[in-house]
Amino acid sequence: RSVVRVTGRALSNAVGGQQQVAAAAGGGLCLDEDPVTRRTFAEVQKERQEQAKHTVLINCPPNVNENKFLKYLSQHGQITRHFFYEGYGAHAVVEFLDRESIESLRSATSLPTVENECILPFKSRLFTLKSDSALGNVPVPCHRQTALPINELIQKLCKAQNIEEQAYALLEEYQLTDENIRLRFLVSSLIKDIATAYFPEATVNPYGSTVNSFGKLGCDLDLFLDLDDIQKRIAVKTTGPFATEYLIKRVPSARVATQRILSVIGECIDNFGPGCTGVQKILNARCPLVRFSHQPAGLQCDLTSDNRIALRSSELLYIYGCFDHRLRALVFTLRCWARVHGITSAIPGAWITNFSLTMMILFFLQKRSPPVIPTLDHLKGLAGKEDKHIIDGHDCSFVSNLNRIKPSQNSEALDVLLGEFFEFYGNFDFSKNCIDIRKGKEQNKPEVCPLYIRNPFEQTLNVSKNVNQSQLDRFVALARESAWIMQEQISQSVHKENTAWGLGTLLLPSVFQGIGKIKKKRKRGPASDRIKSLLDSLKTNGKAR
Ligand code: GTP
Ligand code: MG
Repeated sequence: RSVVRVTGRALSNAVGGQQQVAAAAGGGLCLDEDPVTRRTFAEVQKERQEQAKHTVLINCPPNVNENKFLKYLSQHGQITRHFFYEGYGAHAVVEFLDRESIESLRSATSLPTVENECILPFKSRLFTLKSDSALGNVPVPCHRQTALPINELIQKLCKAQNIEEQAYALLEEYQLTDENIRLRFLVSSLIKDIATAYFPEATVNPYGSTVNSFGKLGCDLDLFLDLDDIQKRIAVKTTGPFATEYLIKRVPSARVATQRILSVIGECIDNFGPGCTGVQKILNARCPLVRFSHQPAGLQCDLTSDNRIALRSSELLYIYGCFDHRLRALVFTLRCWARVHGITSAIPGAWITNFSLTMMILFFLQKRSPPVIPTLDHLKGLAGKEDKHIIDGHDCSFVSNLNRIKPSQNSEALDVLLGEFFEFYGNFDFSKNCIDIRKGKEQNKPEVCPLYIRNPFEQTLNVSKNVNQSQLDRFVALARESAWIMQEQISQSVHKENTAWGLGTLLLPSVFQGIGKIKKKRKRGPASDRIKSLLDSLKTNGKAR
């Protein structure tokens, strides 16, 4: 079977429909193979940041009359885009053509009056619609900002034609939407407004899964506070007799400086950040951060600073995600698989993280023959002058222009790759080898630990240092069992309607009960029997909700 490649023209054709729609969504990612429209990571980020600067967030009643609402806002300037979503009440995200419109709107707003409480003055871009004159009779249509619950997803997957289509359907359901990415960049821009009150040259940018093309609806918002302009100025030697008394006092180390800056910004967010709640300063972590919830956006945010290498990791993942459209479908499927079986978790601990799992998938794809994706060293070799990035002595250079990378010669179907992934890690010699996406080859493990995934940029570090032996064993056992189920599923060409099959079976947690006792379990009868009864119970639960 060959894989349908996504091209600008093909996207508008009906050929291979679902794959292409899913691959083309993903919130303005560069997934178009037309060289003219293939944009770099930096270009996409810049455009999103610019849009966010022109945008406001408005809390409205659920039955707001859209036309009246827009007419009222249009008095302040031309609206280029808007949408509604539900989250602690209905909200509208409204983008104006000109930034002046926001000032005009702000000058026409009243300040809330609250009895027995004092309001701290900080002008934000969050507003509340109070007027009854803009109300209608029906609830305004809202965009979904959360992923489909797993049982509903499995039922949806039943309707697909084959496993490949199921993976693209999963991707389509789970990936961040354009609207959700807009909301994320808006929150980032609102936090920047707070940071620049103290550090006028600061920028705040999303990184991690919001921008790396692997974000799932509901994932956290990782934010990077960058004071680099100040750092750059420190580096420039001037001959004049004066020195600026800078905003930061002398501190013993860069880490202490980061901790102090984040501490101040954390206080500001806590005191002046409208909609920001539950602010926690986690400054003694390996990577100090401020965690908070942006309630109106329904987003959990982690703000860090001095973490430039993570930004490069995000761009690298983005490059891989755009390079071959099978990759995102595979990563989303495997992340979902890992989550339902408790291989990954929202709580930090000895588990494999989404980031580590993604590194494992990339490595596996580099090991296919021919490879599905190139190694990091290959991408470094293609880098131009503009791509040179040395961060804290680490060479983080790789090509940013996707057009310079030759398409893969590998045309294996997605279900085959999925099955092979399970085979590969079910038999991988974790005791001897480490995973390294820079080289795309197994290397001897440099130190004793259950799972060693070499950090692609800080090559002496292990990104999966936290993983203990029992978690690794669970992963291996699950991979073996899944390989077996995949074989069974690939060979079955007829599927009963409304019965879980293909990916559906992989995503049913109870199918894998008793992992580690695989032989014993197999005696209990074929997986399909157990799956059928489980699906029946799922359907009953679904109806009851
Ligand atoms: P989600 O689980 O969807 O949030 O994925 P994520 O990629 O955003 O992961 P997370 O929020 O845990 O971390 C954000 C970013 O920090 C990642 O994308 C990586 O760039 C980086 N990162 C996370 N964990 C590690 C790690 O163990 N080592 C290194 N070097 N970077 C990491
Ligand atoms: Mg994240």
